[in-house]
Amino acid sequence: MKRKNIAAANWKMNTTVQEGIKLLEDLCQQSLNSETQVVICAPATHLHGLGLIESPANVAIGGQNMYTKEKGAYTGEISGSMLVSAGVSYVVVGHSERRSYFAESNDFLGEKAKSALAHGLTPIFCCGEGLEIRKAGNHVSHVIAQLKASFALLSDEEVAQLVIAYEPIWAIGTGETASPEQAQEMHAAIRAFLTEAYGSETAEGISILYGGSVKPANAKEIFGQADVDGGLVGGASLDPEGFAAIINSF
Ligand code: PGA
Repeated sequence: MKRKNIAAANWKMNTTVQEGIKLLEDLCQQSLNSETQVVICAPATHLHGLGLIESPANVAIGGQNMYTKEKGAYTGEISGSMLVSAGVSYVVVGHSERRSYFAESNDFLGEKAKSALAHGLTPIFCCGEGLEIRKAGNHVSHVIAQLKASFALLSDEEVAQLVIAYEPIWAIGTGETASPEQAQEMHAAIRAFLTEAYGSETAEGISILYGGSVKPANAKEIFGQADVDGGLVGGASLDPEGFAAIINSF
């Protein structure tokens, strides 16, 4: 299976509904590579409205988070069914900001991915190490341990449907990007883990995105690495022209 090239925008907690609609409309005015799967991961308040915008077939809407339960007394939470009913087809799971500010554990994130898949949503499953771990040279084992712990809850068939995003925490929102070699080293290690645990067909089919200060100026070089299949883009996705340039960087 040929894996997809994906440019996913992570708007985080930015834009009002009106600004978000304008941002997607402006993006759709740009000329976008139709071979790139574009995913707009927006705040929950925006999702339904964004889904109503007429956009090219390769532009999908994604949530930034979801809960594992189907419905009930979970004030403030959003279920997979709710995301689907808003026209969403992807959901970010396990972003480092969720792991650190909201104490989301590997186990819980595995459950989230499982629940997302049960609803037909594609999880963009995030992993990544902090600066101390990288400095100590333990980055590869740390990231593989994160994935192993969460994927233990998933069947082989479920793992095969994931998108993975490697996001070194020291490169998120800092302007500091992993070098193309650093990204490739980790992506190759993730793919080697997937090959060993799930077989080469599954490993070759999974898109592995890089995240952490991706910009129009560095996207081409990063996406050019053999095991980098696109990016999860925060700050630079808030500029329609810049994000279009990233979409067109494959
Ligand atoms: P950044 O964020 O592009 O602003 O570094 C990436 C992310 O956190 O997904």
